[in-house]
Amino acid sequence: MYELKDQEGNVKNNSGKKHPRNAPQDAGRRKLMASAIGAGVAATSGKALAQTADPIITDVQDWNRYLGDGVDARPYGAPSPFEKQVMRRDVSWLTADPKSSVNFTPLHELDGIITPNGLCFERHHGGIAEIDPANQRLMINGLVDTPLVFTMEDLQRFPRENHVYFLECAANTGMEWRGAQLNGCQYTHGMVHNVMYTGVPLKYLLEEAGVRIKGKWLLPEGADPSHMTRSIPLQKGLEDCLVAFKMNGEALRPEQGYPLRLVVPGWEGNMWVKWLRRIEVGDQPWHQREETSKYTDLLEDGTARRFTWTMDVKSVITNPSPQAPIRHGRGQMVATGLAWSGHGKVKRVDVSVDGGRNWQHARLDGPSLSKSVHRFYYDFNWDGQPMMLQSRAIDEFGQVQPTKQQLRKARGVNSIYHNNSIQTWLVGNDGSVENVEIS
Ligand code: MTE
Ligand code: CO
Repeated sequence: MYELKDQEGNVKNNSGKKHPRNAPQDAGRRKLMASAIGAGVAATSGKALAQTADPIITDVQDWNRYLGDGVDARPYGAPSPFEKQVMRRDVSWLTADPKSSVNFTPLHELDGIITPNGLCFERHHGGIAEIDPANQRLMINGLVDTPLVFTMEDLQRFPRENHVYFLECAANTGMEWRGAQLNGCQYTHGMVHNVMYTGVPLKYLLEEAGVRIKGKWLLPEGADPSHMTRSIPLQKGLEDCLVAFKMNGEALRPEQGYPLRLVVPGWEGNMWVKWLRRIEVGDQPWHQREETSKYTDLLEDGTARRFTWTMDVKSVITNPSPQAPIRHGRGQMVATGLAWSGHGKVKRVDVSVDGGRNWQHARLDGPSLSKSVHRFYYDFNWDGQPMMLQSRAIDEFGQVQPTKQQLRKARGVNSIYHNNSIQTWLVGNDGSVENVEIS
């Protein structure tokens, strides 16, 4: 118990006080309380807590003194103005025209596993289609008994499900194939987001239309000017694809395909057709642009690696990283990052501080869901010496994230897509962080 004194120095009992927070004489009380707390801390703890009286806690501040906004000020909430730096960013030399480009999720500013809707990276080939849900239609045609056209109301009469899945563009980390290039995990790894989707299993809609015996492939098509189309094996469509209309509980954002998108769990983001308007059933793949000239990798022997759908096991340390250096000096610290696998769950993440010579187990925390990102933490004591920080993920099927050298050996250096190699961050003794690679 601390004694409370008023400005005259009289001891008070504050239990009967009506509005102690806004009373000007409170300043004296707060100072006294804080100095008492400060003394207690100094006696009991040698940790990183303040040892001397701090005016931010001892003095009355504006936010203590003046009334704030009312409940009528923010009908749709937005982040604090102090979080202005938390935003999607693009890379200017990758953005010849913003209507056919990409921006990146600020992974180093986030924690947990869910990506907030306004921060999910965007990749569109013909700008954001603006579709009134009243004008939204989804057609299923081709090798079906009954071609069907669904409205949004129709879709919401089918049993719906909720699932958390990551979406990773196959080109994520693509700029790093030939060497360390972009200085920030937002840019090297930010073409991934992780969202809870609400939608109808595609299986139900296909059953309603009745897929003919010869039907083996699906061709989802977007309503945007790019007419995004990809061939997907029917088997995948029946297994776990969703026709989704909600993300993290609210309607899809226009950037993410409002009002309807296809969810293709664990498979490359390009197949997750946004502004979904049609799914054709066929007996063979269509060989569209996005599965021939794009999303195909040229190997060293001149052959093309095609139809590489699953996103392999991958991880990255998000903090510290070039945009999020260590500011607190040596001693107790937390490194954190994300790990994911398009095959299923992540079983283990290892962290190295010496460029992969020695590995320690990181601590996985939060939900461990199939085809979702996993959060890991590595709690350790930094000795203040330079580090070569790496993380390495292993999925439930024993797939191990490869080194850059291993990946190049298998795929050469002409590839763009499916770079899931181990990332190295060089941490200087001043806490600054740089994207490097170990030769
Ligand atoms: N769907 C349509 N209709 N048009 C597009 O341009 N881009 C694709 C895919 N679906 C695209 C699309 C690509 S390449 C990716 S990586 C993902 O959407 C990106 O999804 P996001 O914008 O929600 O991050
Ligand atoms: Co993509």
